[in-house]
Amino acid sequence: MESRIRWAAVAALALTLATPAGVSAADAGHDAASIARGRYLVTISGCNDCHTPGGMEKGPAVPEAQWLTGLPVGFQGPWGTTYPSNLRLALGSMTEAQWLQKARQERLPPMPWFNLRAMTDADLKAIYAFVRSLGPAGVATPAYVAPGGKVTTPYFVFVPRTDAQPVASR
Ligand code: HEC
Repeated sequence: MESRIRWAAVAALALTLATPAGVSAADAGHDAASIARGRYLVTISGCNDCHTPGGMEKGPAVPEAQWLTGLPVGFQGPWGTTYPSNLRLALGSMTEAQWLQKARQERLPPMPWFNLRAMTDADLKAIYAFVRSLGPAGVATPAYVAPGGKVTTPYFVFVPRTDAQPVASR
């Protein structure tokens, strides 16, 4: 009995040490400094350009509440048609360890996956902390369409042109 009480006290102490005040155990370590660093990294590495609706056109004018909610507009090229994923939902449903692994996976263009792969664990963890601090929002983006497949959304075409004709006139 006595040893059980002692173990309970040890466990409670360990939890207290691992969990800063006001932070849930799951998000322990995601302190304000880490979240701010993540926000900075997301801003300077251009994630909003593609993963945020209006990101490329409006830049910082897009409210943070809409950041990284994904783009329902495809990016089409020889690789097929890809959609910049909803990172708010994606990161909201994975553990930090899963994120470190997934963030370094090779992706289809125009995702600059090699930039993520070059980031340190600390940088990736900061991005994770920031995106999770925003909370889940938006809906999942459409699924990838293989080359030649039927695309049912608007899409950008990434094919070099030698004339000045807009792609829409094809
Ligand atoms: C030039 C556009 C572009 C930029 C900039 C960009 N992404 Fe992406 N991202 C994409 C596209 C398109 C996909 C889908 C790729 C695929 O289907 O393989 C994607 C996919 C991802 C995925 C995979 C998500 C999943 O599980 O489905 C992650 C994670 C990701 N991007 C994170 C980032 C982060 C973090 C940044 C900023 C450092 C960033 N992206 C910048 C276009 C972009």
